[in-house]
Amino acid sequence: MTATNTLAGKTIVVTGATSGIGRATATALAARGAGIIGVGRSPQRCEETREAIVAAHPEAQISFCLADLSSQQQIRALALEIERRLLERGEKKLDVLVNNAGAVSRWYVVTEDGYELQFAVNHLAPFLLTHELLPLLRNAPAARVITVSSGSHYNTRVHWPDVMLRHTYHCLTAYKQSKLANVLFTEEFNRRIGRETHIRAYAADPGLVNTQIGTKGTGGLISWWWSRHSARGVTPEKGAETVIFLASDPAVAATPSSYWKDCRPKLPSRYARNAAHAARLWELSERLCGIADPEGLSETALRAATSGASR
Ligand SMILES: NC(=O)c1ccc[n+]([C@@H]2O[C@H](COP(=O)([O-])OP(=O)(O)OC[C@H]3O[C@@H](n4cnc5c(N)ncnc54)[C@H](OP(=O)(O)O)[C@@H]3O)[C@@H](O)[C@H]2O)c1
Repeated sequence: MTATNTLAGKTIVVTGATSGIGRATATALAARGAGIIGVGRSPQRCEETREAIVAAHPEAQISFCLADLSSQQQIRALALEIERRLLERGEKKLDVLVNNAGAVSRWYVVTEDGYELQFAVNHLAPFLLTHELLPLLRNAPAARVITVSSGSHYNTRVHWPDVMLRHTYHCLTAYKQSKLANVLFTEEFNRRIGRETHIRAYAADPGLVNTQIGTKGTGGLISWWWSRHSARGVTPEKGAETVIFLASDPAVAATPSSYWKDCRPKLPSRYARNAAHAARLWELSERLCGIADPEGLSETALRAATSGASR
């Protein structure tokens, strides 16, 4: 950690750091000297990951926070815990937030907040965590918010009449929509917040990566298909390269592009570039996260998200 120690003094939060792309990202960034706060949902996997990273890189500064990102209450508690840890070290800034955690669910699962699981974990969690960590990100000289999206966002749309897909749930449809939401969020973040601050948001497309994501909440045919399909993918270390690049390379800031693949800018889908769709999703997400309505989520917002009232 000397010549390539470009990240010394920087603090980076990586969600979903206990496996796959997130674990590879946390390992590589810790090896380059960043202080890493990993986020995981299992105490055992968090500890096992922390020990493995420290064993490989004895100077690594890495700790973990526990949170189930399907729960908005836990996301808010997570943000407070991150702030507490930073203050303990005398720090008031967060340099990079990597929204990597993601899930696939074969079944229509409703979270404790009443939302479809993939929409909640893959989109609303990055949206809310970013919002909660904004004060810390604002304090960094050039903060970055990186959300791990996917090439599956091409050829899909937001199903406005039934965003939670309650009436027409299909695992892949929900996954693709949530990854499109990652790009719409990134574009809108740069329009709303990027313009008036030094925080820039990026969506990273890792390509096909050989991880277990498609076998965790699925089973049966989908799990079997994913095992075979993902075997053709790159390693998590290779898949993490664009995320690591966006988190660490100073040259990124010179390029206006928000969507990146293979460490290069790439045009996201036409739908993702539509500012009206992005603004609409942003406003819906605010309501679903109880941000716009301090009294909590209104009945109207819930109906708009689940039944067709927002048509
Ligand atoms: N693999 C690919 O081909 C591919 C392609 C494009 C995009 N992506 C995206 O890359 C990201 C990482 O996926 P991956 O392929 O590396 O899969 P992975 O190995 O399954 O990693 C997903 C991570 O998210 C965590 N996670 C899932 N649900 C969570 C929850 N409710 N609360 C907190 N943490 C949760 C998992 O925790 P556990 O360790 O406890 O399971 C794990 O650490 C995802 O956003 C995914 O959509 C993947």
